[in-house]
Amino acid sequence: MSANSPAAVVVLAAGGGTRMKSNRLPKVLHEVCGRSLVGHAVAAAEELTPGQLVVVIGHMREKVAEHLAAHHPGARAVVQAEQNGTGHAVRTALETLAADGIELDGTVIVTTGDAPLLTGGTLRALAGAHAEQGNGVTVLTAVVPEPFGYGRILRDQADGAVAAIVEEKDASDAQRAIDEINSGVFAFDAKLLVGALAEVTTDNAQGEEYLTDTLEILRRAGHRVGAVVAADYRDILGINDRVQLAHARRLLNDRLLERAMRAGVTVVDPATTWFDVQVSYEPDAVVLPNTQLQGETHLGEGCEVGPNSTLKDTRIGAGARVSNTTADGAEVGELATAGPYAYLRPGARLARKAKVGTYVEVKNSELGEGAKVPHLSYIGDATIGEGTNVGAASVTVNYDGVNKHRTVIGAHCRTGSDNMFIAPVTIGDGAYTAAGSVITNDVPAGGLGVSRAQQRNIAGWVERKRPGTTSAQAAAAAAEPAAEVPTEA
Ligand code: UD1
Ligand code: CA
Repeated sequence: MSANSPAAVVVLAAGGGTRMKSNRLPKVLHEVCGRSLVGHAVAAAEELTPGQLVVVIGHMREKVAEHLAAHHPGARAVVQAEQNGTGHAVRTALETLAADGIELDGTVIVTTGDAPLLTGGTLRALAGAHAEQGNGVTVLTAVVPEPFGYGRILRDQADGAVAAIVEEKDASDAQRAIDEINSGVFAFDAKLLVGALAEVTTDNAQGEEYLTDTLEILRRAGHRVGAVVAADYRDILGINDRVQLAHARRLLNDRLLERAMRAGVTVVDPATTWFDVQVSYEPDAVVLPNTQLQGETHLGEGCEVGPNSTLKDTRIGAGARVSNTTADGAEVGELATAGPYAYLRPGARLARKAKVGTYVEVKNSELGEGAKVPHLSYIGDATIGEGTNVGAASVTVNYDGVNKHRTVIGAHCRTGSDNMFIAPVTIGDGAYTAAGSVITNDVPAGGLGVSRAQQRNIAGWVERKRPGTTSAQAAAAAAEPAAEVPTEA
């Protein structure tokens, strides 16, 4: 907490979110760009390093509390058992802190858990204007094209100062025509807030304690009421239903892609490219169409990912190429390649210049420098040494039905196509295995492992057993002596 940090940020997240029509998830746990709605509010609040960071929870509170503890341990959850309005929510938060002996002094920021486009920068600007103007309260407002549903900002005819906020349901027709709305985000003087909340009544259309009433209360008591108008109204958009959720995701994604492009990343098709907030990158990375980068995925310098790839918590090394690939918790080394049609699962680690080719699945396995698994294979719980080539259609048979076992293949090996490596098993450095082998025993360095039955041919079998078929006809034709071809003079 620095000198101009607020004493507290209170995030309101107790509401029902009925318009999301969800039986499973409270509104604030819906995600955009890899972070829950309440997570976005907490992340913005954390940028202010407040003395206290409180999230008011209510509806499906166990789920929200669990989520906060797991992902945002810096936030303290306070329960508002009944949702009696935004004023009641803030009062509950302040009373809970007071009961713990925490008396707030300075600025309290109140923000909402359903506005994921709101940044720390906007909160800082609000807190800055609040302090500079010496206000008792400062509200973040926006001029919007469609004000329906929002509280409207009533300004004094004489000096233009904010006089009050009137809710949609309490507004007159003339007031409903106002297009400056309350974002639901405020900076308050802590002591004045406590006093004003004590005066808020439930005398309104919804029978709730409105936080917005504190503005009129403070103004009547002679305190300065200020407003900061958001430069872009889209920054304050609140989410009430899944249409708005998708719209917010689009807007935030555009912001994230723009930041990446300005930092030197080529995004070929922004319309079909999706970034999570934690994605990081280096210059000259290229993202091809229909690609989703999730979690803490990182793109190294000059790598190329996509098209049609979903990469989650995956590191892509400099100059690596990954196409038509699904990856989760994988590491692709410098100049390594994956795909098309590769599946890299947690713990797949490709060293420099390694290759995982077409229709290959890799899990919890390391491929050494330049090692290759080019075609149609499953590599699980394996270590593959540098310079080794694994033949097409090979499987590390890692699971005995109860336990998983490791396959170790040394450096510069050449394993044949269609090998089953029955783990635990070790192939020594420089060893070969024959195509079609089931490898149950270790192969020593430099040895050849072969395990397959001798082939025997039964002559004339098709003509005897499948007479009259096209196969039999082809066999008969092959048996006739070749027509004489004149030799050239
Ligand atoms: C509120 C504002 C309105 C503003 C709008 C911005 C009031 C009275 N109205 O209206 O002026 O334009 O937000 O989006 O403040 N919440 C609680 N406990 C409660 C009630 C609400 O924690 O008892 C939380 C909700 O989870 C939500 C936020 O407060 O995150 C706003 O509540 P909501 O019911 O969405 O208020 P609006 O009617 O949208
Ligand atoms: Ca709302």
